[in-house]
Amino acid sequence: MKIMVLNGPNLNMTGIREVGVYGSETYEQLKGYIEDQAARREIQVKVLQSNHEGQLIDWIHEAYFEGYDGLIINPGALTHYSYALHDAIKAALLPAVEVHLSNIHAREEFRRRSVTAAACLGQISGLGKQGYALAMDALAARDGGRA
Ligand code: DQA
Repeated sequence: MKIMVLNGPNLNMTGIREVGVYGSETYEQLKGYIEDQAARREIQVKVLQSNHEGQLIDWIHEAYFEGYDGLIINPGALTHYSYALHDAIKAALLPAVEVHLSNIHAREEFRRRSVTAAACLGQISGLGKQGYALAMDALAARDGGRA
């Protein structure tokens, strides 16, 4: 099984930005955790991060054309307003799980709304890095079937 993991704007600043909210582990450590969790499950994983909406959209399309079985996405703040990302997830016809390190429902009002989650199977929010591992389990349980 082959899964693409995408992290959006500012996730590269994890460990530096708002450590009270996102923790003190660096982005590299987070990436290492995701890769390790995938290896334990014998899942092939590609973990990518971009601060640019268009790049994330290009990668989502690539996931389709390169025959990925699923997508895990933390769209960062794009979660709250990117209809283009929503459409890209739908267009890729891949089962997708949205992940947030923090509990977006327990923070500012503007974070409570996700426009991307509706294009996904579901959303995992507030469980820190473990959310990515749980998302892998959810995708593996579906056996990688197309959305
Ligand atoms: C986030 C939550 C978003 O609201 C925020 O803009 C982020 C990170 C999270 O992982 O908790 O950049 O997606």
